[in-house]
Amino acid sequence: MTEALSPQAMLPQDRAKQAAADAAAAIVEDGMLVGLGSGTTLRRFVRSLGARCAQGLKVTGVPTSESTRALAVEVGVPVADLDDVGPLDLVLDGADEIDPLGQMIKGGGGNLLWEKIVATAGRRFVAVIDETKPVAHLGKFPLPVEVVRFGWRSTERQMRALFVESGYLEPMMKLRGGEANPFVTDSGHYILDCALAVITHPGPLAIALNRIAGVVENGLFIDIATSAILGRPDGTVETIVYEGGCSTS
Ligand code: A5P
Repeated sequence: MTEALSPQAMLPQDRAKQAAADAAAAIVEDGMLVGLGSGTTLRRFVRSLGARCAQGLKVTGVPTSESTRALAVEVGVPVADLDDVGPLDLVLDGADEIDPLGQMIKGGGGNLLWEKIVATAGRRFVAVIDETKPVAHLGKFPLPVEVVRFGWRSTERQMRALFVESGYLEPMMKLRGGEANPFVTDSGHYILDCALAVITHPGPLAIALNRIAGVVENGLFIDIATSAILGRPDGTVETIVYEGGCSTS
């Protein structure tokens, strides 16, 4: 597995993800309640955090997916259910795209619902990213939207109508995995990936999508990120701070 390769043997993007993941693990403090995101970058982070736990760091992690939970247990990060703990001190998660305001598209790995529930239960949210993730405008990465299986085609039609009304004239929408073998989320739902090219007003679009009855949640994470740790292939990292991120008290 690439996760275990030496830095010299890794692809440049993987080196950047590892640099960001290691820097993110270094900001976790003793006693913290930490949201553990999902995706390839966060898997590296969870392994780094596990190494710190092996050295004596005491933390409790709240996973955003079954796969993150399994990895955390494997590498020795103690885990708790969100239901059993108070507001999280810190949430760390990846992003598919992040704009200059810290607005994100997430859900490329299919975990957007649990990720958003955990993210909005946190006092701080740090996006752990590589150089491919920052964008001037969200939308090149197809927006994942989690929908209930019952009536999903009707939900898709309502979403398409909303996109067209909102000025996205030719939205390309795909059921993730395809109809023969659709991807099913940890909560038992489907995902529609919506290619919109440039999302001009992500905040209003996020609200409007969630008003459609069959939509469970969308992958626009608005006013959530408080900062980002951006890793580069040469091992350097940069911290970017955003105004107005999440502030659960
Ligand atoms: C998982 O559903 C996503 O939100 C991930 O956080 C996002 O796709 C980034 O993943 P990578 O770290 O694998 O790029």
